[in-house]
Amino acid sequence: MAKILVTSALPYVNNVPHLGNLIGAVLSADVFARFHRSIGSNIKYVCGTDENGTTTEKTAMEQGLTPKELCDKYYQVHKKIYEWFNISFDVFGRTSTEKHNEITQSIFANLDKNGYIREEDMELMYDPEKDMFLADRFVQGTCPHCQFEQANGDQCDNCGHMLNPTELVNPVSKLSGATPVKKVSRHLFLDLPKIKPLLEEWMQTKSKVWSQNARTMTEGWLKDGLKPRCITRDLKWGVPVPKKGFENKVFYVWFDACIGYISITAKGFEDWKEWWFDPEVELYQFMGKDNIPFHTIIFPSSLLADGRNWTTLHQISSTEYLNYESGKFSKSNKIGVFGDDAINSGIKADVFRYYLLNNRPESSDTVFTWKDFQEKNNNELVANLGNLVNRTLMFIERSFEGNIPVADLNEEDKVFLKNIKGEFETVKHFLLKAELKQGLKQIMHISKLGNQYFQANEPWKLIKDDPNRARAVLFVLVALVKDLGILIQPYLPDTSKTILSYVNGNSWKWDDLGKFSVKGKISRKDVLFEKIDNKKIEELHSKYGGKQEKKGFDLLNLKVAEIVNVEKHPDAEKLYIETIDLGNEQRKIVSGLAGYYTPEELVGKKVIVVTNLEPAKLRGVVSKGMLLAVAEGDKLGVLEADAPVGTQVIIEGSTPNTNQISIKQFAAVKLVAKEDGVYFEDKHVQAGSKNITVDRGCKGKIS
Ligand code: MF3
Ligand code: ZN
Repeated sequence: MAKILVTSALPYVNNVPHLGNLIGAVLSADVFARFHRSIGSNIKYVCGTDENGTTTEKTAMEQGLTPKELCDKYYQVHKKIYEWFNISFDVFGRTSTEKHNEITQSIFANLDKNGYIREEDMELMYDPEKDMFLADRFVQGTCPHCQFEQANGDQCDNCGHMLNPTELVNPVSKLSGATPVKKVSRHLFLDLPKIKPLLEEWMQTKSKVWSQNARTMTEGWLKDGLKPRCITRDLKWGVPVPKKGFENKVFYVWFDACIGYISITAKGFEDWKEWWFDPEVELYQFMGKDNIPFHTIIFPSSLLADGRNWTTLHQISSTEYLNYESGKFSKSNKIGVFGDDAINSGIKADVFRYYLLNNRPESSDTVFTWKDFQEKNNNELVANLGNLVNRTLMFIERSFEGNIPVADLNEEDKVFLKNIKGEFETVKHFLLKAELKQGLKQIMHISKLGNQYFQANEPWKLIKDDPNRARAVLFVLVALVKDLGILIQPYLPDTSKTILSYVNGNSWKWDDLGKFSVKGKISRKDVLFEKIDNKKIEELHSKYGGKQEKKGFDLLNLKVAEIVNVEKHPDAEKLYIETIDLGNEQRKIVSGLAGYYTPEELVGKKVIVVTNLEPAKLRGVVSKGMLLAVAEGDKLGVLEADAPVGTQVIIEGSTPNTNQISIKQFAAVKLVAKEDGVYFEDKHVQAGSKNITVDRGCKGKIS
């Protein structure tokens, strides 16, 4: 029997996954894995967190944790969310393990030995202000292929091209806003042009069953020609490069991430080699479309060129994007439904699973809306599947005292059942091809046929006129209820369990479909699904936001910063150039304090800075932010706070803006210094829990 190895893209560890992440990878793979278990396949479902690389380093810095602490924290967050959603991993591991380093390094060693690694000096993007090499994704600019202005250094999200950050037109450092400069560092490259023949031969036999978007995108890249791909980085958090001269570097996270599938299997199972070195194994990989090139080009290239007959991709199932209401899910703006929100929503996991799978973005983007969520719950789960199960079981309770009837079938019943058997085959056909949405629609169609059969036979009349015939109808219906319990198991595992428990079975699998195995007394407890009313939906909608325009204090992102240096502006008497320290970065700010303060008076002060102002040139010098002060008569005093640098300045209920604002937008936010502190409208502005004071006791409007 074939062995089925299922993976879902390893989620980045540094955040809480949202519903779009869920349907894109783990939830889809889960349905497929559950289906294969139901038909008796020998299957393993492997996943885990993707923990290496620069994003982890950066997030850890922001949260004041070490990378390891950050990974430990979010590994648990992910685990808990997937447990709630009933994701049936056979192992859920992580990539920051010794095993992972060992296997990544062994693959690298083979690539090197086989001549597929090149060494080259590389011109990298270097941030002169932050004094560090910039990770690809910290450079943004215009895509040279499609002119999209917000392309990332590693990939353009608009046209999908893989990029090198030096190819971007008008690059900008996302860390400081500075224009990065090119600087040389020696790096290792995966020689993709040399691997290309291996890859092409492999694709000829493999790519036939890939999803359409995966094939089109991959063929496109091959046609464009492949370039050597840099697989090392000037970072600390990652898999160390085991080669002389590269001791201070780690592997690029996308080189090691996919190897995580292997290392997680290896850590989880002693017989892991039987999954990764067996030509009989069929590897099914689930992911969002932005992950495609790494799974159809980089990962297979590494495995093919390693030369050890690794198991390689058999079928890729990649999704488009799920959007939220009128926009995108957004972590930074807290828009959309995240895993923990779903847990706290008071709605069952299966309802989310149903909605997401029913709305799976298979051939184009789809949209999550609460209205639609409500409708699908009420019209499909409640009115179709729930209704069939409830009315069938209730009828048996009322008319047969709960005893499941047995009776002879008539010709019509037989035709109906034959028809239904054909429908089961269709579901299986879709599921084998991982066409999950179609499979689910088909199951709901079967449920609808059940409701029609109920309606057409009118058992509530038969029970008086022809009780034997009523028995037969319910005999058919209860078997169908059991069948739906089996069919729906990959999609709605809790619901399946409940349905099957009502009809005295819990271990029924695919092979039991169509059999009249339901016997004894039924034991129904509750209705399967509950209607969601308008009030509830409105509450959820307003809680998780449609697209909200930021306004008032929420436009600002204010932080405590320390002035570490003050210079005179070369071309303007009234201006100083202050260097400020924000904790994780330093910036230069130009301000008109020269008439009011000496440099010595300013250095060492902890002041309040608008950190999200668009950079502006003041007499030829770029200023990144603005220092807040109050002018009263001919006095001027800066705002100060005795709080650690980097402390966020807040009012009750505010969320800092992560987007830049113009000086005009800033001017519209009226902050006022009063006797007892700083105010926005009637709310007290504070640096964390500390008060803000104004130097020299100035009061009045802040600018
Ligand atoms: N961490 C990546 C993401 O969330 C996916 C990595 S898939 C892997 O987009 F296989 F490379 F790990
Ligand atoms: Zn592009």
